[in-house]
Amino acid sequence: MLEIKDSVAVITGGSGGIGMALARYWTSRGGKVVLADIAEAALAGAAREIGSETVTVLCDVTKEEDCARLADTAVERFGKINLVAPFAGIIMDGMLVSTDRDTGKVNRKMPLEVFRKVIDINLTGVFLTVRECVERMVNNGCRGLICFISSTGSLGTAGQINYSSTKAAMSVMPKVLTAEFFRRGLADRIRCAAVAPGYVGTDMVKGMNQKALEKILGEVPIGRLIEPEEVASLVGEIYRNEALAGETFFIHGGLRLGSRG
Ligand SMILES: NC(=O)c1ccc[n+]([C@@H]2O[C@H](COP(=O)([O-])OP(=O)(O)OC[C@H]3O[C@@H](n4cnc5c(N)ncnc54)[C@H](O)[C@@H]3O)[C@@H](O)[C@H]2O)c1
Repeated sequence: MLEIKDSVAVITGGSGGIGMALARYWTSRGGKVVLADIAEAALAGAAREIGSETVTVLCDVTKEEDCARLADTAVERFGKINLVAPFAGIIMDGMLVSTDRDTGKVNRKMPLEVFRKVIDINLTGVFLTVRECVERMVNNGCRGLICFISSTGSLGTAGQINYSSTKAAMSVMPKVLTAEFFRRGLADRIRCAAVAPGYVGTDMVKGMNQKALEKILGEVPIGRLIEPEEVASLVGEIYRNEALAGETFFIHGGLRLGSRG
């Protein structure tokens, strides 16, 4: 079992709901965090709240040089990286095509930039964050976990062709990297896994259309949104338990999964 005390977590999207909850969880157990985000004011607020065991890095995860600087900062400031939580992510929902009620013809398509922006942040951004952090973990002999964040949307949610595709990728990345690390003799010290939350009470979800949110809640057996702290706690358990590797762990309050049209 690994200890959180004195271990170093790199968290992107770190000033947002789940990232910030993980930062609180980590530091309250004696860990240190490097928080990365593009939201400068929120990042400063997060640093003030958490205190001396935090370093913040203004970082756009779609930029290679920002991700390299993030990983370097962790090693320079704390000497190692033990947890990588590449949680920066966005939603920009829409249907592939929409049709006109009267004519039945297509009257709207998802714009390329809407598809691409979600891919850039949620997929390419994760690739860059993880690649740069793993390089430093390997070169500095670090032990720990890469914890991707997937979603129940990874199973296919209508209106989210961009988001669902990136979250499906997050569910497969732990398997790809666990196999690669096994080949290179690294899998016993750098594990990979993913958490896949259902509807979590963060700005991302609270900002949704309220009618849609009410409908969603009607389908959650525990009758409420998942708390960001509950996701953070799951990440902490996966970090500690070194038998957990290569898998995606759902946390959704009993939601019935699968696409419904
Ligand atoms: N909220 C949910 O219900 C839910 C469910 C499943 C998965 N997730 C995933 O959890 C992660 C965090 O979501 P959240 O609900 O906390 O959202 P959030 O919007 O509260 O936080 C996301 C953070 O990412 C940051 N960000 C956006 N673009 C960035 C970029 N280019 N570079 C760096 N930072 C950037 C934002 O500034 C924000 O602080 C996301 O990957 C999301 O897909 C959320």
